[in-house]
Amino acid sequence: MNIAVLISGAGSNLKALIDACSDGHIDGRVALVLSNRPGVEGLRHADSAGIANRVIDHRAYASREAFDCALVDALAPCKPDLVILAGFMRILTPEFIGPFEGRLLNIHPSLLPKYPGLNTHQRALDAGDAEAGSTVHFVTEELDGGPPVVFARVPIDPGDDADSLARRVQAREHQIYPLAAQWYCSGRLALTNDGARLDGRVLPAGGLDADDYL
Ligand code: GAR
Repeated sequence: MNIAVLISGAGSNLKALIDACSDGHIDGRVALVLSNRPGVEGLRHADSAGIANRVIDHRAYASREAFDCALVDALAPCKPDLVILAGFMRILTPEFIGPFEGRLLNIHPSLLPKYPGLNTHQRALDAGDAEAGSTVHFVTEELDGGPPVVFARVPIDPGDDADSLARRVQAREHQIYPLAAQWYCSGRLALTNDGARLDGRVLPAGGLDADDYL
């Protein structure tokens, strides 16, 4: 399975995916990394692992659609079986989602459907939530609204701020993203008209609790 990963920043999830592929925990290889931002740390992870990578700077395009078409063109030569958004901070249009729907995953730092969009950890703290977390989901045209696959819950501690919470949530992300990627690469996970399915069974509306699988 050829995996393409799209990033915008530190790329710690990308690194977890690269490591899981090289350790044999994912039946696939990261064939290409694209970043919309030059100079980010995630590109160094790709370089260190000898993985082809490119910057497609969104600021060079007049519209979201034109940028998305450039992404599609850049991905074409690697013929990705799976496209993974890992901290990719651009809203995608149907120009991109259409060609990859069903093989496009995202990770979002909240327990979806809570807190789509930005500043998820601060919003969980402000709401007085007892827990935060992260969710891997299939990408559809609804922002952070595609069918969830798996989530990890992280208890909120009394002294937490958004940064401390983000660090603990990310540590769980590095477990659940490789898990979901392996489900997909091994043919167990699919997006159907009824939603996400694992081993043929439709998943619960919020996805599966990672604690049952890790
Ligand atoms: C991750 O925590 C991911 O959940 C979040 O960005 C971080 C990227 O970290 N994604 C979003 O907020 C998407 N809306 P990383 O670059 O170290 O993988």
